[in-house]
Amino acid sequence: MAVVAVEHRHGVAVLWMQRAPVNALGADLRAELSLALSRANDDPTVLGVVFASALSAFSAGADIKEFGKPPTSPTLRDLIEQMDASAKPLVAAVGGIALGGGFEIALACDARVVTPAANLGLPEVKIGLLPGAGGTQRLPRLIEPAKALAFIATGSPVAGEVAVPDGLADRLADPDCLIDAAVNEVKQFASHPRRKLAMAKTNADSRSAFEQAATTLLKRQPDEPQIEAIVDCVRATYDQTFEDGMKLEREHFTRLMADNRSKSLRYAFFAERSVGQLPATTMAQAETVKSVGIIGGGTMGSGIAMAFASAGIPVVLIETDPDAAQRAVDRIAANYTHSVNRGSISEEMRARNVGMIAPAVDYRELGNVDLVIEAAFEEMEIKREIFGKLVASTKPTAILATNTSYLSVDDIAAASGASGRVIGMHFFSPANIMKLVEVVRGAETSADAVATVLKAARGLGKVPVVVGNCHGFVGNRILARRSEQVDRLLLEGATPEQVDLALTKFGSKLGPCAMGDLAGLDISWRMRRATGRSAPVADALVEAGRLGQKSRKGYYLYGEDGRTPSVDPEALALIESVSRSRGIERRVIPQEEIIDRMILPMINEGARILEEGIADSAKDIDVIWLHGYGFPRWRGGPMFYGQTRGLFDVVARLKALAEATGDVSMRPTSLLESLAASGEAFS
Ligand code: 3HC
Repeated sequence: MAVVAVEHRHGVAVLWMQRAPVNALGADLRAELSLALSRANDDPTVLGVVFASALSAFSAGADIKEFGKPPTSPTLRDLIEQMDASAKPLVAAVGGIALGGGFEIALACDARVVTPAANLGLPEVKIGLLPGAGGTQRLPRLIEPAKALAFIATGSPVAGEVAVPDGLADRLADPDCLIDAAVNEVKQFASHPRRKLAMAKTNADSRSAFEQAATTLLKRQPDEPQIEAIVDCVRATYDQTFEDGMKLEREHFTRLMADNRSKSLRYAFFAERSVGQLPATTMAQAETVKSVGIIGGGTMGSGIAMAFASAGIPVVLIETDPDAAQRAVDRIAANYTHSVNRGSISEEMRARNVGMIAPAVDYRELGNVDLVIEAAFEEMEIKREIFGKLVASTKPTAILATNTSYLSVDDIAAASGASGRVIGMHFFSPANIMKLVEVVRGAETSADAVATVLKAARGLGKVPVVVGNCHGFVGNRILARRSEQVDRLLLEGATPEQVDLALTKFGSKLGPCAMGDLAGLDISWRMRRATGRSAPVADALVEAGRLGQKSRKGYYLYGEDGRTPSVDPEALALIESVSRSRGIERRVIPQEEIIDRMILPMINEGARILEEGIADSAKDIDVIWLHGYGFPRWRGGPMFYGQTRGLFDVVARLKALAEATGDVSMRPTSLLESLAASGEAFS
């Protein structure tokens, strides 16, 4: 089927793009647009051309799937050069998203007519690139370069109704008369020669505003090569010709495209879209969840309740007594008030959301809900008792989910006598904000239950990933390997500060010790005690009353505000005494070793998880770590990082570390060994 349909309206050729789902500018769309444009130019009865879309999106930009492959003619640049050479006027009629190359096509037109709800943006920065089809050169020649710089460097789109006053578009039109308005616009231009692009504004104020904006930006995002490149290209609009600026943009684009950073960000984009799908062969029926019950109004329960209420889904919130239930609702109301004060929701929305939550103590109130999520204490006996009660008080089709972060979903299900409808929904704190949900498929969980929970989670705007049942599931199980290494590193001679610095150097926002202090060291201490594990350093800190920020001391010492850490000689002395008591001679550990010992065992555990079928793919593991644990997005995730580094190197290094430290847990799994030997990737 053709991906461009041509209509002649009042002497103007309207090129309707129709490459589902989002008019990504793949080879076929580019070729057909190019042909239609040539024909319009050759046809003496045609006054000019309107670029339009038969889909809701105008265009999502270049087809990212083609990146890294040999280019096919005409490239987007060829097409845009052809647009520049067109003798006849060109107008873009934008009624939906026009992103990246899509917006660059619109920018190459003589005018842009947009609906109020159109969405114009240059998000290339988010995949480690810069606009590569003229965006960095045209936009600063259209609006103030300082504003263009901010627009390109944030990558955030703006609505049509903002784009017109801001100068990004020329005219607003109602959706019903968008094409007619664009056709009229072509006629306005038909009698004038097409304009040529010159330098950007040359006055000193403009230049100094730009330089100031550039300095602030580079200071804020110092390690992002695409930001530097954007600054370079926008600056060029002051003192280089359009043609030279285009050459510069091309050089930067080609270089950034080949960089691992952009490869990782592009991988993350597609990985996020691939997770949470059941194989087509599963034939599962996904029902719509119209109401939920939540057991427990603590931090997790309240956050989950907010996630549903904000999505307009009524919640019955069960607590052990009416006061506790009311307290939970009050806390939720206070959280929403905070959002109103920040300006992120309106007062009406706050009232609506709070009204969605009905506090209760009687399980019979759950008789009609479609899904119950238990968020009670992490104790098997408590959970088994709750699930017994849930089976008796809910309708037979209701799905019963546990928010446990490490207990066995199968053991919980076994107590219910209705294992088919028992599932895990592991939210991350704060549950109303964090996007990740591990959907834990028990041995007997029905495919319909999995499909329904995936649909419900997606409806909340979450990123659900299906995982199998095991201690800690995927995310926490991998985290446990890293935490073990952190404790060992501290025992062997590293300081909390060195460990944290190493992880931030790797790209994380927060190191593991600072993170532990923030979360509260007693949480993992309690879990270790419940499961018979130990971590000599972390245990000693908790047992000395150092619980983290909440007690103003943990790995670090915290000042008056309870948040600003400083190195604490007492903590260091305590750590040294633990090393001494175990007869460990402390040594200086190089930063490179600290990083490898934190990251490589994670990859190893990920491979073990794949071997066991707990995760279906390396992408699932990566998305879990990107969305639940703040793994640097520009590394793609632990598994993708392993792959870009080279699995052969990962295996060799793990072997060397296992040998040097005597820690056999670092020996590479057989999957890693075989992939390294064959040169294959996880996928
Ligand atoms: N290239 C290839 N595929 C794309 C794509 C693109 N630019 N944009 C979206 N898709 C695909 C998605 O992978 C998804 O495929 P699937 O159905 O097989 O999973 C499908 O289109 C629908 O996308 P979403 O599921 O994300 O749908 P949403 O409605 O939630 O979001 C969107 C739509 C806002 C367009 C979002 O997909 C998006 O942000 N896309 C990326 C936009 C972008 O970064 N554009 C710049 C590209 S780079 C460029 O243009 C370079 C140029 O300067 C030279």
